[in-house]
Amino acid sequence: MEFGSSVRGEWRLEPGLVYLNHGTVGVTPAAVLEAQAEIRRAIETNPSRHILREIVGMLGEPAPGRLRAAVERAAVLFGARAEDVVPVENATTGVNAVLHSLGLGEGDKVVIAETTYGGVREAVRHACRLAGAQPVSVRLPHPIRSPEAVLEALDAALPSGPGLAILDHIVSETGAVLPVRELVRLCRERGLRVLIDGAHAPGQIQLDVPSYGADAYVGNLHKWAFAPRSCGLLWVAPELQPRMHPVVVSWNLDQGFAAEFEWTGTRDPSAFLAVPAALDFLDRLDFEALRKYNHGLLWRGVEWLNGLWDTSTTAGEKMSAFMTAVELPPRFEATPANASRLRDALLFEHRIEAPVFEFGGRLWVRLSVQVYNEFRDFERLAEALDAL
Ligand SMILES: Cc1ncc(COP(=O)(O)O)c(C=O)c1O
Repeated sequence: MEFGSSVRGEWRLEPGLVYLNHGTVGVTPAAVLEAQAEIRRAIETNPSRHILREIVGMLGEPAPGRLRAAVERAAVLFGARAEDVVPVENATTGVNAVLHSLGLGEGDKVVIAETTYGGVREAVRHACRLAGAQPVSVRLPHPIRSPEAVLEALDAALPSGPGLAILDHIVSETGAVLPVRELVRLCRERGLRVLIDGAHAPGQIQLDVPSYGADAYVGNLHKWAFAPRSCGLLWVAPELQPRMHPVVVSWNLDQGFAAEFEWTGTRDPSAFLAVPAALDFLDRLDFEALRKYNHGLLWRGVEWLNGLWDTSTTAGEKMSAFMTAVELPPRFEATPANASRLRDALLFEHRIEAPVFEFGGRLWVRLSVQVYNEFRDFERLAEALDAL
């Protein structure tokens, strides 16, 4: 299949918009939105029957509902058994569920990195405040040049437990893919439980979640796996599942890991039920072909921009998948206010969507590549920054 502008019609992106921000909230393909709309139409023919009996299996003969069937399909993305995964609305919800299920207390530490996603950092701060636990932020290298450098930095900074470490699989701002197996091992040696935040991972890299040795792993399906918003998946190690509860507890308390997470009050199940359509779409594109295209285009574009601006990236090619951040030329004043001014100017003056941020005294632009992008998008970005 040809990628680039010839497939762009599969999405409803505004004509002329350069969209280099697939990673932020995903972009759902039109075919998947149609499938979701059809699911919603069907539910409305008898909402009570569809939702309570057929989708979540709360009424009638106990039987796995259609939501469970969708979870079974989604589990493949994690390389996990279906019984070990549950649907959550998004990565944030999954992180909060783990934080509030572990019975954290005084004397516990919750370790994050300085590059941890801001929303997760705040969730940790809140959970620690409630539990009397201590949040600890460790410094990982930036830019990240090698997996060894990450491990060395963590080894030097990681405190001993008891407590929980929350580490990214793919760092939000830099797109760096971290060596999770080795990170988990270090945390275990220090007596810490580990939650891996894989918000960006499903659909960007192949996963084998049970083999990482973590206590829990959360990922989004609405970013890179083409599912509609809001769709996330939470894997929990079997021995910890009896202690795990959703953030919102409802009728199914103590009815089992899957049952508790599958009913958290009345909500619209159509996004998760459309996961099989999203995965069919991914299969139709062919993940291996998509992977080669996205990674290849990202690096061609990034090397070209680095040459043009005489700058560098936040992570080497081998540590990136479809997303990385490129340093902007030093003539741009490196303040958070200027970063947001530049981001606005890119969007409103040049119709380019890409996050700009300040880190380490420089400005960076984060670039996400999906199959609807092409090299011209990088040229448009360079032209816009030239004009600014
Ligand atoms: C590493 C990381 N964790 C968590 C999140 C939160 O994802 P969501 O808003 O879908 O919960 C993000 C979002 O970009 C992220 O990059």
